[in-house]
Amino acid sequence: MAERRTIVIDPVTRIEGHSKITIHLDAQGRVEDARFHVTQFRGFEKFCEGRPFAEMPSLMARICGICPVSHLIASAKACDSLLAVTIPPAADRLRRIFGMAQVVQSHALSLFYLSSPDLLLGMDADPRTSNLFGVLEREPQLARDGIALRKFGQQIIERLGGKRIHPAWVVPGGVSDPLTPQDRDSILQSTPEALAIAVRSLAWLKRTREGFRDEIASMGSFPSLFMGTIKEDGGLTFYDGKIRFVDAERQVVSDGLDPKRYFDFLGEQVESWSYLKSAYYKPRGIADGIYRVGPLARLNVSERCGTPRADQELAEFREFERTAVLGSFHYHQARLIEILYCVERLEQLLTHPDILDRHVRALARPNALEGVGAAEAPRGTLFHHYKIDEQGLIRYSNLIIATGQNNLAMNRSVRQVAERYVRGNRLTHGMLNRVEAVIRAYDPCLSCSTHAAGQMALKIQLLGPEGDVLDEIARS
Ligand code: MG
Ligand code: NI
Repeated sequence: MAERRTIVIDPVTRIEGHSKITIHLDAQGRVEDARFHVTQFRGFEKFCEGRPFAEMPSLMARICGICPVSHLIASAKACDSLLAVTIPPAADRLRRIFGMAQVVQSHALSLFYLSSPDLLLGMDADPRTSNLFGVLEREPQLARDGIALRKFGQQIIERLGGKRIHPAWVVPGGVSDPLTPQDRDSILQSTPEALAIAVRSLAWLKRTREGFRDEIASMGSFPSLFMGTIKEDGGLTFYDGKIRFVDAERQVVSDGLDPKRYFDFLGEQVESWSYLKSAYYKPRGIADGIYRVGPLARLNVSERCGTPRADQELAEFREFERTAVLGSFHYHQARLIEILYCVERLEQLLTHPDILDRHVRALARPNALEGVGAAEAPRGTLFHHYKIDEQGLIRYSNLIIATGQNNLAMNRSVRQVAERYVRGNRLTHGMLNRVEAVIRAYDPCLSCSTHAAGQMALKIQLLGPEGDVLDEIARS
């Protein structure tokens, strides 16, 4: 057996959930492989078996404290198809607003709270100051903007859903309560400020980006497929539509795919070293079927956003590369463009004449024994698939989450960063920061398959062929 050494980074800080990164070196000290391990498992798919299907949305929302709204929506849509109903138009619009409010708050959390310290203070910054407090000290406006933007999204979720964490307002057949004129008006009052913040933050990110040319080229920049949901006119959507795959040249590989038939085009592989499955584009097999989802992928598959300011930004974004935008570093900018789109779009929906309609729920008994619901969650396409018995009890459920779909791309990205920045046996905080930063670019939501909270200590180990520790640095 060839001699190899392993660097272990455990656990990764400033992402949600429990995880570990290992970098495998060959005898020459060259990077041979990199793995992103998710080390906890919660088994949601199993323990909902036997539950009444109507409980699924609120049950499934508990998978994640970060993106409960996405699970709520995908789950309710799966239930809609069990009922075989078309939900009332006002409910459809309200669900869209709800989903986009979550995209704003989740993207703000990712960019401002988790990634802006790297961008503002640099990849070699002292980890003790590389956090939102460090940002607050250096550029108070930016930190305050991030907090305000997140609050904007959270307040919409609270107004619509009643409570911020695990709201159960989205139900099979629609939503439980209509929008009140007071809530509509106060949301509309808050949109101009959110819009101004999004514009300001984009200007900041474009200036900041210039200092990261090396990272942009080496942090997850590689050809892959991209997958996302688009409207009939090719526009960006978070709620429904058909699925498109494009390749690295931004050529359409497959179009008009029905998300309800995800199993025709998505394969999943289980690895012994992680609870997170690796999804791939089935027709090409796991070796060539690597694809990315989430903000970068959505902008690569879409022909337009569909709102004026976001479309302007998208046109500029396209100029990075003549092909698809391949650098995962650009997930950050894609996030801000999506925030801009969501604020513009939810403002449009809130001024629709029917938005206060009191008919917001279609009532029915189950009319089908199987249903699939899909939605574009902040991190990418989310699928919920249920089968029920004649009593309406869940017999089978399958979830495909965004983080699993980015798993192959995250592994490849970590390997690329390690190839560029790991030098022999030397472990530096700068290298460690970059490995973590590239993972954070994907904003993995490990809460969706794990459950963890709070700040975690960080450890990186260099292991010899016998598993002996050659070097070790720790962060507290
Ligand atoms: Mg599954
Ligand atoms: Ni989540």
